[in-house]
Amino acid sequence: MVGDQVFPPGFLWGAATAAYQIEGAVADDGRRPSIWDAFAAVPGAVEGGASGATACDHYHRYSEDVALLGELGLGAYRFSTAWPRVMPDGRTPNAAGLAFYDRLVDSLLEYSITPVLTLYHWDLPQALQDRGGWLERDIASWFAEYATTVHNRLGDRVQHWTTLNEPFCSAFLGYGNGVHAPGLRDPRGALRAAHHHLLAHGHAARALRANGATSVSIALNFSPALPDGPDDHDAVRRFDAVHNRFFLDPVLGHGYPTDLLDDLAHLDGLEPAVHDGDLAVIAEPVDWLGVNYYAPTRVTSLADPTEPSNCPLPGLRGMSVLPPRAPLTVTGWEQHPDSLTDLLVHLSKRCGIPLVVAENGAAFPDVVDPDGRVRDTDRVRYFAEHLRAVHAAIEAGADVRGYLAWSLLDNFEWASGYGPRFGVVHVDFASQRRTIKDSGRFLAQVAARNAVPGGHLG
Ligand code: FCB
Repeated sequence: MVGDQVFPPGFLWGAATAAYQIEGAVADDGRRPSIWDAFAAVPGAVEGGASGATACDHYHRYSEDVALLGELGLGAYRFSTAWPRVMPDGRTPNAAGLAFYDRLVDSLLEYSITPVLTLYHWDLPQALQDRGGWLERDIASWFAEYATTVHNRLGDRVQHWTTLNEPFCSAFLGYGNGVHAPGLRDPRGALRAAHHHLLAHGHAARALRANGATSVSIALNFSPALPDGPDDHDAVRRFDAVHNRFFLDPVLGHGYPTDLLDDLAHLDGLEPAVHDGDLAVIAEPVDWLGVNYYAPTRVTSLADPTEPSNCPLPGLRGMSVLPPRAPLTVTGWEQHPDSLTDLLVHLSKRCGIPLVVAENGAAFPDVVDPDGRVRDTDRVRYFAEHLRAVHAAIEAGADVRGYLAWSLLDNFEWASGYGPRFGVVHVDFASQRRTIKDSGRFLAQVAARNAVPGGHLG
């Protein structure tokens, strides 16, 4: 039996979503297509031919969804604004699009829920993709204009700002292996796109600060590498460089790691994209770091350091990714809460700024029982174990200020469509009926007590 684990006073409990995954209403009030609308229309790109055209219809049901957050007693809500709603052509503000977020924020504040706003969660206006998207260097200033436009409208009520969500996915999966929008497969381009994401982050962070913002962050997704055996330390180093340090180090002002530059030199994609002064822009200080964590990655070294990896990250060689170990979630991700503790302790030391777990959660095969209840004991256990992991990190000295569960609602899970359900609230997509799952009730209890209950769960 474990005792109650009490979190520091003021710890922020909440849930997260992203615009394209929940809003639907893709042609309402002047919104124009994003790269995800275009990508989802490509046959075979998304499981089951699904798209975010309706999703959770949150655009029309946001008050009901905010009321759910209120019912759960969650004090924070992380959401993203859709660039193609706010600026349908990527550059020109759309009053009706901004008005939606205005209403959403006001409704959160009525419930005393703290908004945590992400400016970019992968839904680039297609009009900007037509001009090169993240391959085009000018995107850094377009993104800063967009950030300023949103801040001008909401900065009086929204304190916490996140520039980008997971540039790793947006650049490497979108431009490198084609699994995400815009579906390009060019490792060299992916490195260029990644650098432009970081540059856009830096310009936007500066613009937000110049506009008076005092709580600016970026949300990075980390997958700690676990060595298979004692000879696998170089595999860990290589994977960690391209997956984790690629994004973290420049944001912290350390530039790109030299071992990463050596590993990627054979592609000649990153360094040509980096102009004088870029690293200083990217190093614009952030006030906190959003840590998105789902699973570690098992790695092993290859005898030949130049042999391409089985892992399709740009330029990765000399190592292989091994199958994850049980227990797995339905997306095949390994459940390994200890990696979250280690990650938070490490990041806290390395960054020296507060951390917020901005995403953590799991998909399981949920069933709505005949009595209407969703007894998602797997997810309750997942949250309990990962929250204990966060608590252990805090005990070990990590400065963690909040935990935002992924996700408030079952939603459009990108290329996997509507199969994997990550919500703490079940959504019946045919009727749009919402049902709070047992995991939602569990999080509500945790938030109310500011503690993870001890004892056996599930
Ligand atoms: C993260 C994304 C989020 C969601 C979860 C499961 O990588 O940021 O939108 O898809 O994975």
